[in-house]
Amino acid sequence: MKEFIQSNRIVYDALAREYAFRRDNSGPYSEDTEYLGYSLLKHISDRNHLQVMEIGPGAGQILKYFEDNGCRTIGVELSQEMCQLCRIQSPNSIIINGDICEINFCIEQFDLIYMGAIIHLFPLQDAITLMKKVWSWLKYGGYIFVNTTCHAESYEGYSRKQDYPGEVYRFRRYWREDDFERFISDSGFSVKEKLYTDEKDRMKKWVALIGKKEIIHNNGKI
Ligand SMILES: C[S@@+](CC[C@H](N)C(=O)[O-])C[C@H]1O[C@@H](n2cnc3c(N)ncnc32)[C@H](O)[C@@H]1O
Repeated sequence: MKEFIQSNRIVYDALAREYAFRRDNSGPYSEDTEYLGYSLLKHISDRNHLQVMEIGPGAGQILKYFEDNGCRTIGVELSQEMCQLCRIQSPNSIIINGDICEINFCIEQFDLIYMGAIIHLFPLQDAITLMKKVWSWLKYGGYIFVNTTCHAESYEGYSRKQDYPGEVYRFRRYWREDDFERFISDSGFSVKEKLYTDEKDRMKKWVALIGKKEIIHNNGKI
């Protein structure tokens, strides 16, 4: 396991209680689970037996949303402590305790893939590799949700996690919004929607992109 993944595992084990608290006591400016989950689910009209995968489900609230909406749900979560929270919050989901970089699913297995507040935990090259895998795991016509915070410049490295108590260091990539959007399009997705959240109390501006893996017709047209 790479060093940045190991350090993330330690960090998120330590932060699990904090995430459970924030899940149950959301801030005045944070988006609610229904809004976030529906922003992805609404793009699919035939919602029978949808296969949904979440990478890094944390305390499990989004998995529960999809579970409650009749989807078959799988979460891949690095932190053992977070996995325990997920299993309680979303009892009908399959929760895999592991590093997404070391896991493989079948090609075109999922209708929807949700990636909330996770892509910025990967260095650029690893993020590129991960998005290639995500593209291959998604069905044609399927959608992803991927979000991050917006910054004046794109850069990466180890830093102290702010807005949490204690000295918590972890790897972080900071994305400029246009770089982030280009990265998602270069990974093969058409960006269908952009959602913005201004979390004033935590001084974080978020952009979420809804990306589609377009269906290619026989004549080569989308
Ligand atoms: C910032 S938290 C976000 C949690 C949740 N998605 C949310 O928005 O509240 C990132 C989550 O991703 C998990 N994670 C980090 N790296 C991972 C990896 N390589 N594979 C699977 N999960 C990972 C962490 O353990 C943590 O639970």
